Amino acid sequence: MPSPEWLDLGPVERFKSSPITPARIGTTKLAITYVNGEFGALSGVCNHAGGPVGEGRVEGEYVVCPWHQWRYHCRTGKGEPGFEADALPTYDIRIEGDRLFVSAEPVSKRMRGPHPPHWLARKIERVPGNIRLAGISTTNMDVMNPRYSTSDALLDVAMRHAVELGVETKLIRLAALNFRPCAGYYSKSAHACTWPCSITQMDSTDRMDVVYEAVVHWADVILVATPIRWGNASSLYYRMVERMNCIQNQITIANRILMRNKVSIFIITGGQDNIQAVAGQMLGFFGEIGCNFPQFPYIAHSRGWTAEDMERNIEVVKHSRELRDGARALVNRAVDMAQLLLDHEEAPHTMERGGRKAHHLVMEDIGVDAGEISGLPMVNDVLMRTPSA
Ligand code: FES
Repeated sequence: MPSPEWLDLGPVERFKSSPITPARIGTTKLAITYVNGEFGALSGVCNHAGGPVGEGRVEGEYVVCPWHQWRYHCRTGKGEPGFEADALPTYDIRIEGDRLFVSAEPVSKRMRGPHPPHWLARKIERVPGNIRLAGISTTNMDVMNPRYSTSDALLDVAMRHAVELGVETKLIRLAALNFRPCAGYYSKSAHACTWPCSITQMDSTDRMDVVYEAVVHWADVILVATPIRWGNASSLYYRMVERMNCIQNQITIANRILMRNKVSIFIITGGQDNIQAVAGQMLGFFGEIGCNFPQFPYIAHSRGWTAEDMERNIEVVKHSRELRDGARALVNRAVDMAQLLLDHEEAPHTMERGGRKAHHLVMEDIGVDAGEISGLPMVNDVLMRTPSA
């Protein structure tokens, strides 16, 4: 019978049925591996953001964390080749009769390699200067063979007017930006959804960083232009805002408001109607991430359900002085408000949760024991490495 420093995990056969099995001694989480006929015991708490390693999978001799795919050797606990300095604590294993025992204490320490922070993780500070407006075109098209877009046309009028006002501008066309859809890390755990976005940090080809940089670090005014597609904003708009969940999630998990003193405005056009519902969604989302709105925060145009003559729609918008004037006035209102907000600088850095969905989380919610996670980086300061594909 092993000495008291050994703890009984249960029948050996139970741990042979899968290459990785989560286990627990007291409050300490473990990942028990059984690969190529050999057992291993690692801490069940990932070095990266505390993910549940024991609930991951095994690839070759490496366990893969289910949150963001950091890999650790199934017996040594060392990170994958190139990242050996990232090591999980390991435990001794022994078999007595038909029972599996694990050492009460780890036999190797948790180690963390150097991880320079992603550039988006830098402190959010408004650099002094003129008001800045980021225009975001969400309409989809073949960018090599562009077509006339009514929402883009009015966005162009608005951007030109902003330049005339002395505003710095930046235009982002989502159709020309290669970015992945949200992978739903938040649905695994609120703590699996990080700032900067996990996808942005893992995939250097993903260009959502352009949007994050513009809306979080740079712009005072965010002008989003969308067509109406089947009664909703464009699919690219939704793809973008799903990826912006990580901005709102910082409020939930870290009580941290990333976007302060910012104004959002919208241009909505479509051959068919549903403007109020589209505007309602956009106002709701941008309000939730911390934006403010000027009085009358959008302009919109639609000729209604029966107006399927698209060429005529284009002509109407092209020749509408009223819409162009409306686009300019929208920018005026937003710029005035942005200046007001910057002059007063009273936006909160945190907020009370009562009545909001963003309740404080408790550690039990993520199944990570407090002793194990202490010393891990705060999720909002997570340092990423690029795991192998
Ligand atoms: S928490 Fe394990 S990879 Fe991110």
